[in-house]
Amino acid sequence: MLIAKDAIPQVAIDIMNEVHDEEVVLLNDIDALIERRLSGEDVEEALGARIEDLMEHVEFHFSNEERLMRETGVPVYPIHRGEHDRVRDELGTICADWRSEEGFARFAAYIRQTMPPWFANHVATMDTVTAHMMSQVLA
Ligand SMILES: [Fe+2]
Ligand SMILES: [Fe+2]
Repeated sequence: MLIAKDAIPQVAIDIMNEVHDEEVVLLNDIDALIERRLSGEDVEEALGARIEDLMEHVEFHFSNEERLMRETGVPVYPIHRGEHDRVRDELGTICADWRSEEGFARFAAYIRQTMPPWFANHVATMDTVTAHMMSQVLA
């Protein structure tokens, strides 16, 4: 398992936690498929489908938080949105080229080494602060 569920802290907005849990499941599925591909199995179809799921889910995850931020008018919106946009771009570039040999190495390293600490850190910092502010507006 790439990411244990309890590695991702809980924030003050339930729907955000649910989306984070779903993303952990997806990342763990992709990690398992990377492992199978590295041991020579043909998992191209399943991996391609899961990568599309991940791109869609990350977009849902980020845009849902951005919608909540706009609706509650919290002041952290521009900086939080900026960080989401940076990761949207990075992930988009990396996922676009996973089928080539070099691209796959880059993709695997990104999913296994970059994503888990980024995800835990983003939730522990920006998501936690933002959810706390939003929960006070919504209370
Ligand atoms: Fe989040
Ligand atoms: Fe976020």
